[in-house]
Amino acid sequence: MMKKVAIYLFFLIFSGHLFAQEPNSEVKEIKKVFIDNLLSKMTLQEKAGQLRLISVGGDLTLDKVLDKIEAGEIGGIFNTVVEPDLSQMQERALKSPNKIPLFFGFDIIHGHRTIFPINLGIASTWDRSAIAKAAEVSADEATSDGLNITWAPMVDITRDPRWGRVSEGFGEDPYLTSEVGRIFVEKMQKQSLADKKSLVTSVKHFALYGAVEAGREYNSTDMSERKMFQEYLVPYKAAIDAGSRAVMVSLVSVNGIPATGNHWLLTEVLRNQWHFDGVVVSDHGAIRELINHGVASDPKDAVRVAIKAGIDISMNDEYFLQFLPELVEEGAITEDEINQACRHVLELKYDMGLFSDPNRNLDPKLDIDTMFADNRLHREEARDVARRSIVLLKNENEILPLAKNKKIAVIGPLADSKRDILGSWSGAGRANLAVTPLEGIKNAVKNPESISYAFGANLSDDENLYRFLNLYGETTKFDNRPADKMIAEAVKIAKKADIVIAFVGEAEGMAHESSSRTDLSLQATQKQLIKAMKKTGKPLIIVLMNGRPLTLSEEYAQADAMLETWFLGTEGGNAIADVLFGNYNPSGKLPMSFPYNVGQIPVYYSHLNTGRPRGTENMGKYTTSYFDSPNEPLFPFGFGLSYTNFAMDFSLSSTKMNRDGEIIVTVNVENTGNREGMQTVQLYLQDVTASVSRPVKELIGFDNITLKPHTKGQVKFVIKYDMLKFWNNKMQYVAEPGKFNVYIGSDSTTQDKQTFTLLD
Ligand code: BGC
Repeated sequence: MMKKVAIYLFFLIFSGHLFAQEPNSEVKEIKKVFIDNLLSKMTLQEKAGQLRLISVGGDLTLDKVLDKIEAGEIGGIFNTVVEPDLSQMQERALKSPNKIPLFFGFDIIHGHRTIFPINLGIASTWDRSAIAKAAEVSADEATSDGLNITWAPMVDITRDPRWGRVSEGFGEDPYLTSEVGRIFVEKMQKQSLADKKSLVTSVKHFALYGAVEAGREYNSTDMSERKMFQEYLVPYKAAIDAGSRAVMVSLVSVNGIPATGNHWLLTEVLRNQWHFDGVVVSDHGAIRELINHGVASDPKDAVRVAIKAGIDISMNDEYFLQFLPELVEEGAITEDEINQACRHVLELKYDMGLFSDPNRNLDPKLDIDTMFADNRLHREEARDVARRSIVLLKNENEILPLAKNKKIAVIGPLADSKRDILGSWSGAGRANLAVTPLEGIKNAVKNPESISYAFGANLSDDENLYRFLNLYGETTKFDNRPADKMIAEAVKIAKKADIVIAFVGEAEGMAHESSSRTDLSLQATQKQLIKAMKKTGKPLIIVLMNGRPLTLSEEYAQADAMLETWFLGTEGGNAIADVLFGNYNPSGKLPMSFPYNVGQIPVYYSHLNTGRPRGTENMGKYTTSYFDSPNEPLFPFGFGLSYTNFAMDFSLSSTKMNRDGEIIVTVNVENTGNREGMQTVQLYLQDVTASVSRPVKELIGFDNITLKPHTKGQVKFVIKYDMLKFWNNKMQYVAEPGKFNVYIGSDSTTQDKQTFTLLD
């Protein structure tokens, strides 16, 4: 066998096919021999080095990092995006004892150099081809800058908008989040990691980061296993099934045990039940945090707990190198445990093609100016995805779209902010290349002089907020002019205009990691500005820029029209103008419910029924309700208007279904308005009676249809047996016979229902 393998290896090397092959059994065997051989030559110290992901910064200067790389103490680098530096690092890695190449990682969350909408925005498209475009372009740009792996997609289910990282995820729903996550993985990684354009994904944050108690960053999570498997774990599993080769572990504790030290989560569920065979990466500094969590007594103990739980790679800490060899010598862990982790890393590097071509995609001559040049951006793609992300929340008297010959007053602290429109996690994006809403509007109209602009108000007058936002360098400027003077200036131009467009919301830094809020309303300064605008009597269009659902009842009442635009990225301003002037008919739908008030949180559509539902007839006492607030959100999941109207009806192919059968849902859609538009048809299901309570409704499918005015079309869905499965009272994943309600609609409040029975 060995001889055969050696001959085949020889053939492959010289035919240039090694590492680009699909993994048939012979190729797998060759990989195994290669890695066994490598492992047999590595010292414990070098093996520990492979398990370390390091970024240059602070005391760790580039020179120091280069020396450590050459000593074989580092397996991967993250946060460097400058190619000459990457090339230098790889050169030094190839001088290390076993010449093991490095891989290079970066947070490519919603774009690389070209910034796409924040992920909540990308999810708002409900458009698989737009999502694919964003993922594909991101991977293309990242790989052409020499990067190999990213810490994305983030598929944490988010139902608490107090948490700042809801901006990075795809919202509240397991199915929608799974779909977006799956597309990210497929389009970023491609068919084979050996493809030069393949960017390895690390689905994160495993698990439940989005369920932090009270929406407070890094707080604990606690949840029944049923809810976990039924809802919160679903998107991670979908990303892994789609082939994600890495998983990043969550910083928080899951039912009392920190994820980084959670053997049940990382080994029993991830490896044993889900058969994940890729690399498990800890989050930034998570190993030492095990001490604060109270499950490790000191750094050495933390390393032991993490490696035993199933962590392969530590992100930015010294401890793996310092203590792993010692722990083996003391017998606290086995060398096999280190070998196993190291094998995962080496296999990944092998499959990435790094052993055959360590410098793939690296260009040491690419200087920074050329790298970040405008002509390397994908503006057209970014603009298209951005406009599809916009959600029309209100459009009274069809005030939108606007005619291009109107006098428009553009107002507000976010109207001309290049930094904010990029959103958080846009490290390789360049604010100076972004188009602001003011610029976009001016680009769109025939006569830019008809557009006037006033800043109007600071984002806030809260000094603490500014201190928080500008902690690591100024990102949000405070205008020192008196507040009433700024408002007066805005009022003056508003009075001369036909229409006022106010850009309000959050600074990008307010919707980021470590940016939890307890109050989700607009800041007082912005509320005053809107009040003053309303008082002018001019039609008022409120354009929201924010990274989370806000509480907006007051503004909703004041606005004639309202658009949710999130943070739309490099082409955001042009995309907003496309929608304002009707070059694009808005089609976005909310991926997260917008509460009326913080007290309702968590408010999400797929809740369970109670024994005392609040019916329309019985709204009084002793039913599930608040006496001071509606139960429902202000804007429900799936909601979004269009400049046209759609009528829908649907039928089922049968009212009965066998185990091996299926139900075809045929939806007739008619554009009853005067403009072409896209509708997203949403399919929801309710299992009416089961061994456990099932949600009142769950999304199980969606599809887009674009129709010209007064035309009809059809959308079809197929409901199969597997789609009826859930975790029953014995924690078995099964479908139970009985009645199912099928709902079709344009948002999650639809009551348009048909019923079928699953036969025994
Ligand atoms: C975040 C991760 C991120 C990592 C690397 C951490 O603080 O939680 O999501 O990937 O930093 O930048």
